[in-house]
Amino acid sequence: MNPNKSYAKISTLIVTEEYRGNGVANILLDKAFALIVKSDFSEVVVTVSETKEDVLGFFMCAGFHLIKKCPDKYVKGITEFILRRII
Ligand SMILES: CC(C)(COP(=O)(O)OP(=O)(O)OC[C@H]1O[C@@H](n2cnc3c(N)ncnc32)[C@H](O)[C@@H]1OP(=O)(O)O)[C@@H](O)C(=O)NCCC(=O)NCCS
Repeated sequence: MNPNKSYAKISTLIVTEEYRGNGVANILLDKAFALIVKSDFSEVVVTVSETKEDVLGFFMCAGFHLIKKCPDKYVKGITEFILRRII
């Protein structure tokens, strides 16, 4: 969380493969949101590569919406999706 920005950013959410499907990511997201709300942010942003369909699916299910597509943002030829959730 950067106090100079008007939004919080969640960076790199990964659950170890053998533990997936057990609600771990949901628990981590709930904890992150509790901290974010406590810090008075009203908007949360995540950046997800177009190649990470599982991560995109997870965040869309969690109430995030696509706000921007950024081609070549980190890797040439790969588009990054910027997703946002208003709290
Ligand atoms: C996406 C990821 C974080 C999900 O972790 P998880 O612990 O298995 O997720 P959960 O078990 O907490 O599932 C939470 C919810 O999201 C849903 N969900 C999980 N993966 C999903 C997917 N691929 N598509 C749609 N929904 C999905 C679940 O159905 C569940 O919904 P429910 O609450 O209604 O039951 C995990 O698959 C992962 O780490 N993937 C690789 C991440 C990665 O590469 N990160 C680097 C780039 S950011």
